[in-house]
Amino acid sequence: MKIISSIADLRDQLRGQNRIAFVPTMGNLHEGHLSLMRLAQRHGDPVVASIFVNRLQFGPNEDFDKYPRTMERDIAMLEKEGVYVLFAPTEKDLYPVPQDFRVTPPGDLGDILEGEFRPGFFNGVSTVVTKLFNCTQPRVAVFGKKDYQQLMVIRRMVSQLAMPIEIIPADTIRETDGLAMSSRNGYLTTTERAEAPHLYRVLQQTRQQWLDGAGRTDRLLQLEADARRILLERGWQPDYISIRMQKNLLTPSQADLDANEALVILAAVKLGATRLIDNLEI
Ligand code: PAF
Repeated sequence: MKIISSIADLRDQLRGQNRIAFVPTMGNLHEGHLSLMRLAQRHGDPVVASIFVNRLQFGPNEDFDKYPRTMERDIAMLEKEGVYVLFAPTEKDLYPVPQDFRVTPPGDLGDILEGEFRPGFFNGVSTVVTKLFNCTQPRVAVFGKKDYQQLMVIRRMVSQLAMPIEIIPADTIRETDGLAMSSRNGYLTTTERAEAPHLYRVLQQTRQQWLDGAGRTDRLLQLEADARRILLERGWQPDYISIRMQKNLLTPSQADLDANEALVILAAVKLGATRLIDNLEI
């Protein structure tokens, strides 16, 4: 595997390739990331991965400084997966001058849910992903469904800006107890780690209760409130637990429910100092 940090060297290395499958990451790789690499292999050749902890998508009081950086281990894992190039720029490589030009998603998608609780997050994500796409020029790129809203932001960005890239969604990979794999799981204490799978259980329970009853907006609100209460009682601090439409992440009206719009439950909750997100399609 070639490990490249400069944009110019990346361009040289990839010149003439027109079936590149790209997987952007922030490193600290786990089985979830490896599943993205394997999916990429099925959709293109060669596979190019990136590791870059993108300051632009972290708020001032978030975990940019403590975000785990495990480059040597990550490299060994990517070598094993047969990744052709790892693009691992430094901040100076990717942002040689302040990144004043930004890509800002529309508010109805970028300022809700994650965007409400992490202002500027999707601006930072969209900007870096655009730049990584420009550096790599992939034919396809793989994004995990664990970051459901991020996947939707990228899809809409690629579509509206006519980027010639197919976005491939990858299913969430879970630990055997149901906890969605995430680099931030490493922040959990032993006690919190034992509690953490309850988030997914509450999502599953909510989904089942929704399916067992009538499709009415008042029930939907009640189920959201119940899920929030259960987690609060167990010591979690919910940012949001919300049932939205898969197509646009907006709250369904009664007419939407009557039309059987596909739904998804999305949650972001803090357990101690760690913020976890998860989702479940209905
Ligand atoms: O999902 C991530 O790891 C990041 O948001 C991404 C897409 C690599 C952009 O920094």
